[in-house]
Amino acid sequence: MKKGFATRAIHDGQAPDELTGAVNVPIYLTSTYQQEAIGKNKGHEYARLTNPTRDALEVSLCSLEGGTSAHVFGSGMAAITALCTMMKSGDHVVCSDNVYGGTARMFDNVMAKFGLTFTYVDTSVAANVAAAITPATKLVHVETPTNPMMAVTDIRAVAEICHARGVELSVDNTFLSPYLQQPIALGADIVMHSTTKFLNGHSDGLGGVLVCTKPEHDETFKYVQKCTGGILSPFESYLLLRGVKTLAVRMKQHDANGRVVADFLKGHKKVQHVFYPGLTEHPHHELAKQQQSGFGSMISIETGSLENANAFAKRLKLGLLAESLGGVETLVCHPASMTHAAVDAEGRARLGITDGLMRISVGIEDVEDIVADLKQSLDG
Ligand SMILES: Cc1ncc(COP(=O)(O)O)c(C=O)c1O
Repeated sequence: MKKGFATRAIHDGQAPDELTGAVNVPIYLTSTYQQEAIGKNKGHEYARLTNPTRDALEVSLCSLEGGTSAHVFGSGMAAITALCTMMKSGDHVVCSDNVYGGTARMFDNVMAKFGLTFTYVDTSVAANVAAAITPATKLVHVETPTNPMMAVTDIRAVAEICHARGVELSVDNTFLSPYLQQPIALGADIVMHSTTKFLNGHSDGLGGVLVCTKPEHDETFKYVQKCTGGILSPFESYLLLRGVKTLAVRMKQHDANGRVVADFLKGHKKVQHVFYPGLTEHPHHELAKQQQSGFGSMISIETGSLENANAFAKRLKLGLLAESLGGVETLVCHPASMTHAAVDAEGRARLGITDGLMRISVGIEDVEDIVADLKQSLDG
């Protein structure tokens, strides 16, 4: 019988150490391994290829996303870079138009130099994906909910469109984590995360992962880890294993706090608009309700101007003005100058990323304290 999510988060890949019985996976700080004879070893040759701490993490993340293999990298961007190595010059990618700014920056400024081409569409309208696919399309890359506008894409519908055309679908599941969304069960071929966020959960380490569903993915990404070397260190693998053990309880609290904070913000006169799929008035609320098992804790608000946004940020006493998200602490960011600074003003305007937009990653502090802080900051 398949164990429950919280049980797998604590135990899968994390069996007690065979040598000592230590209940935590040791941090194997080694770059190489003694070989018994030429061509004979204990399954490890060199740490760019395999490391037992990293291997344990890959087993854990693979289990949580329901894939067949997982491959961790030094950051979310390194994972997306590895994803691009599935392709060759001339191949085409369809991508959500409102992805993390760094993703589009890497696609357009780095990968385009190697002959990959990219088309950005609003993937929350599945027909846009169908219309953008060409004979050269190899991959559709979707972020749902999007960063920072919180648009939701119907993963099942887009997967069907992709598979009918022989295209693979990758989903950036960073905003919800596998606790709240299971893209592979909905038809995705690959799930990607910036593990820097909810999977780590404590804002103390970068990382990225690709969770795959096919033997050829396993082969490709193992080979890419070995050839390009953008792997996650043993120490950061350990931090992530530690973070993942509490993922279920953290996400329950993030989700509960997110709903309370969104309701509060909706009723505040200084907030012109709240972007949160958990609100019934969100245009994709019904879809989010159906394909997610919660709404999470990522909320964006329109404050009306850069001046208002800045005043709001400066008055915060508990929430921290900082890039990133998914930590236990409430983090507030200004997408136009932080996460989406790489998108030009026209592109930001098209997506609705105004100078007054603020994104809140609601932490798991006492929700009364979070609300009180946002209130005193908005009230001025
Ligand atoms: C949704 C999303 N994907 C990918 C990334 C990139 O991850 P990293 O910062 O770990 O490289 C981020 C970073 O903020 C993100 O928010």
